[in-house]
Amino acid sequence: MEMDFFHIKKKRPQQVDTNLLPIHVAIIMDGNGRWAQRRGLPRTAGHVAGAESFRRIATFSKELGLQYLTVYAFSTENWKRPQEEVGTIMGLLRKYLQEAIEEMARDHIKLEFFGDLQSLDPELRDLCEQTREISKTYDGFQVNVCLNYGGRDEILRAIRAWSADCGAGMCQPDQLTESVFSNYMYSSGIPDPELIIRPSGEIRTSNFLLWQSAYSEYYFTDVLWPDFSSSDLLNAIASFQRRSRRFGGV
Ligand code: IPE
Ligand code: IPE
Ligand code: MG
Repeated sequence: MEMDFFHIKKKRPQQVDTNLLPIHVAIIMDGNGRWAQRRGLPRTAGHVAGAESFRRIATFSKELGLQYLTVYAFSTENWKRPQEEVGTIMGLLRKYLQEAIEEMARDHIKLEFFGDLQSLDPELRDLCEQTREISKTYDGFQVNVCLNYGGRDEILRAIRAWSADCGAGMCQPDQLTESVFSNYMYSSGIPDPELIIRPSGEIRTSNFLLWQSAYSEYYFTDVLWPDFSSSDLLNAIASFQRRSRRFGGV
């Protein structure tokens, strides 16, 4: 079925076939700082705008019919930033999570977190746990927020957990398969993202979903994350739908 999303924006987005939607889309929410700088605003204002953009895109993804949306919110490397900026981002996360708990109940959006929550401040960590608990009662559309997330860190943690299980006699090294190993990742039970979008003009993965992205299609755009609209998401999906995915075959 061809759906017309002309009402969304003046500039007509490309046609998307809603019967061939990806199940799982992942986004590297990048470009907040540059968005603010271009407006003569402090970088932190960009993070506020970026958080709003996340809200819009999450709601639209659900309406569109995606099943999973995974977003990169804070990487294991982002602690290198000035303390003030890290503090603002953490403060925004607290504020948005508090609001998200109410919204989740209304919109039935399931929220999960990928990343090492142990090193977050206790208040934020508690909010994440609380959100997770409430989410368990919902099914349907799920948003995974990558928080203090690193792809390499995720793989190391999986290896540590799997080794410990081997030590406890629960598994054996020669029986390790890709699907068994996948169950040790944060994304356990969730299909790999078919499409990974990176706004902001950077053409790199920056340690995002290293294991899960083996056969993901990438879509790069110069649009900065706070400006990323529903039309941009539709254009990314339209681009995905025009590609020939071969998975190593012919
Ligand atoms: C993404 O925007 C948000 C985080 C990494 C937390 P940036 O803050 O990286 O924005 P740019 O890349 O500097 O423009
Ligand atoms: C990737 O963006 C991480 C997030 C968007 C959360 P960065 O801005 O941290 O990536 P680099 O530094 O440009 O590679
Ligand atoms: Mg950046």
